Amino acid sequence: MTLDSWKPSSPLTPLASLAQSIERLCRSLRTTNPLIKAPYETSDKDRRTLMKILAFGASNSKTSINKRLARFTATLVPHAQIEVLDLNDHDLPIFSEDLEKEIGHPQTAKAFFDKIGSADGVIVSFAEHNGSYTAAYKNLFDWASRIDQKVFQGKPTVYLSTSPGPGGAGSVLASAKGSAQFFGADLKATVSVASFYEVFDADSGTITNPVALAELTAAAETLALSEVI
Ligand SMILES: Cc1cc2nc3c(=O)[nH]c(=O)nc-3n(C[C@H](O)[C@H](O)[C@H](O)COP(=O)(O)O)c2cc1C
Repeated sequence: MTLDSWKPSSPLTPLASLAQSIERLCRSLRTTNPLIKAPYETSDKDRRTLMKILAFGASNSKTSINKRLARFTATLVPHAQIEVLDLNDHDLPIFSEDLEKEIGHPQTAKAFFDKIGSADGVIVSFAEHNGSYTAAYKNLFDWASRIDQKVFQGKPTVYLSTSPGPGGAGSVLASAKGSAQFFGADLKATVSVASFYEVFDADSGTITNPVALAELTAAAETLALSEVI
């Protein structure tokens, strides 16, 4: 008899109760610890049903801590196939209406827009420059918003932010949260992670602080619970 096929009888015997507890613990470890992979995550059958998660840092820094946070959080989404986007692959001239009249919608902006469109869920982690978006993200976003203002296309979305300091880039996150509905983000959760270098282990690429890890895990799991559009 496997744990999956086991059906509780009433009242539970001590052995059955123990089996249930072990099963719950195993499930919890699989979804909260990215280092523990459930065997079914790699089976052919489940590969066809994996949720496509697009993750990116809203920064063009080659060493972006927000990109690292977005990537790590994506690994916490159960049954996910992850694509990590780099803003440097979507570099564009500074938006102006004059330039738009000349060149229309650049392919680079369309590619960014289409990547969001083909995802089942999106994780963005916002870097904060002087209390707001980085110029690189704002520029790409402005171009994409000319294709359709609903840049996030109704996708279940998690917004994150982090910085080396105690503020955790909370200002830009608040700004992004406040405008999410106007840009078609089905915002499921937001998490600001303060003092990034104190809570992130660069060797393993994981958040080690238990409070931050719990918040990120809960946020990631909201995506798995979302209905795919
Ligand atoms: C021009 C500039 C402005 C910044 N302004 C802020 C700020 O307002 N708040 C903050 O928490 N960090 C600020 N920082 C520090 C960033 O949080 C830090 O560089 C962080 O690594 C950026 O995220 P990223 O690595 O994902 O690009 C600023 C950095 C730069 C270069």
